[in-house]
Amino acid sequence: MTLTQEHTRTPGHDPDATASMAARDLESHGFFLAPLLQPGFDVLDAGCGPGTITNDIAERVFPGRVTGLDISPGHLERARRLSQGREIVNASFIHGSAYGIPFQDSSFDLVFSHALLEQLLEPQRVLREFHRVTRPGGFAAVCSPDWDRFEMAPCPGAVTEAISAYRRLHDDNGGCTQAGALLGGWMADAGFSPISTGVWTERCNSPHRIAGFIASQLEEAGSHGHAGTLRTWASHPGAEFLQTWRYVVTIKLGEE
Ligand SMILES: C[S@@+](CC[C@H](N)C(=O)[O-])C[C@H]1O[C@@H](n2cnc3c(N)ncnc32)[C@H](O)[C@@H]1O
Repeated sequence: MTLTQEHTRTPGHDPDATASMAARDLESHGFFLAPLLQPGFDVLDAGCGPGTITNDIAERVFPGRVTGLDISPGHLERARRLSQGREIVNASFIHGSAYGIPFQDSSFDLVFSHALLEQLLEPQRVLREFHRVTRPGGFAAVCSPDWDRFEMAPCPGAVTEAISAYRRLHDDNGGCTQAGALLGGWMADAGFSPISTGVWTERCNSPHRIAGFIASQLEEAGSHGHAGTLRTWASHPGAEFLQTWRYVVTIKLGEE
């Protein structure tokens, strides 16, 4: 299969973005998923990135399995190295796109996806794929940010404008900065039934890292003024970046 990124707005291998992803784990970013995980479950983690959450899931479902799916060979390699280092034997990492999940219908007890759907031009198409590969009676849990609820301090007008410029860039490139707020409707449209939903706020540990990532995206697009504003903001001793996430946990009803 030839994979392209044409349907995806991806942070790629920006070092700040990768470091942020690699700092995530099941407890911090998948806590809403944890109560569903049972030993013996077969789980798909779509858009697994560097695999820190995926490997935690593996430990929870053993002797079941988790499959991490991603379009980025670099992230997959990192995820595999993490498995080896932690001696995890029930995690596999495969190259493929969530637009065409390379598994048969009803292959998984649970499909999980963290911070993927907001990157996609056609998230609902991907959610229909999630529905196809989830077994009847199985679960799907997704989580995306909601940029309408982000907060930064201090937040002078220039910072607000820089963030607005980043959001326009993200959305013009095929992403959706409001994805978190739309997840519930998208999941229902794909055929899933709701179990729970919630909002939580992450205080980013490193203002330099998050500002550096956003600034580098703006610089690539030629917005050097906005990028400079954010880099300067990150140096402020009281700089705080509060990122709001929304999760939706669902079930695929039907004959088991
Ligand atoms: C923001 S990262 C999130 C990674 C991880 N889930 C986490 O939360 O740390 C999004 C990931 O989705 C992957 N991705 C983007 N488009 C994809 C697609 N169409 N199919 C599979 N993975 C995709 C990217 O390569 C990236 O690793």
